[in-house]
Amino acid sequence: MIEIKNLWKSFNSNQVLKSLYLTINDGESLVIIGKSGSGKSVLLKLIIGLLKPEMGEIWIEDENIVGMGFREVQKIRRRFGFVFQAAALFDSLTVADNVGLALRKIFDWSENKARSRIRECLAFVDLQGMENKYPAELSGGMKKRVGIARAIATYPRYILFDEPTTGLDPETAENINQLIVKLKKEMEVTSVVVTHDMHSAFTVGDRIALLYDGKIEVEGKPAEIRRMNHPEIQKFLIGYLLNKK
Ligand SMILES: Nc1ncnc2c1ncn2[C@@H]1O[C@H](COP(=O)(O)OP(=O)(O)OP(=O)(O)O)[C@@H](O)[C@H]1O
Ligand SMILES: [Mg+2]
Repeated sequence: MIEIKNLWKSFNSNQVLKSLYLTINDGESLVIIGKSGSGKSVLLKLIIGLLKPEMGEIWIEDENIVGMGFREVQKIRRRFGFVFQAAALFDSLTVADNVGLALRKIFDWSENKARSRIRECLAFVDLQGMENKYPAELSGGMKKRVGIARAIATYPRYILFDEPTTGLDPETAENINQLIVKLKKEMEVTSVVVTHDMHSAFTVGDRIALLYDGKIEVEGKPAEIRRMNHPEIQKFLIGYLLNKK
């Protein structure tokens, strides 16, 4: 379980998070929505200790990572897979080497075992046989899937997705949504999905939380969110209903 309490984060005079509280339960898939610039990516980076808050607590199971040293945080980060907003692959490495990066660093595995895990993860995202391709040879959707394969390779307990469907056509986006659902079902991971795509939010979320004015303004089950009268939620819902076929 992840528990965030009274979290404050600013950049110079820009106060991005203001006393944010959030609990992420084991095995759930929590979606965080919020407009551009509201601090969604910053929140994910705080959870894995890539950014430091001015104040607050971030409990990863029974350890508060706020105030921890670099090495300690690095150890805890191994429990996480992170799918970045841009796929963030290394262009000079093959698909297999991109997927294998973290697992080669963390596990002392034989080459055969590493390769077999890479193959397994590529198959999970439906990219079997793509080991020797380079990122430049892949479409945007394929790159996102390589990013997911890389995130799951080390058997993380938690996977954080930053805008996994943004910039993809509807069919490719749906493909990624289904992958996130499959991850939850088959690997029992806890996921946090940041998005402003309400279709994606309703497809993958057990719970949806709105980040607004530096805190979690409202949260609820998808069905509750659909009925909510909050003006900011309404803006997201209107966009969603207008785009629905
Ligand atoms: N490293 C940084 N240095 C200074 N300001 C930053 C930094 N990272 C983020 N910010 C600022 O923090 C605010 C929140 O940024 P963040 O990237 O979390 O937004 P977001 O909700 O993810 O937006 P989007 O939906 O566009 O990705 C923005 O005002 C941004 O300019
Ligand atoms: Mg962002």
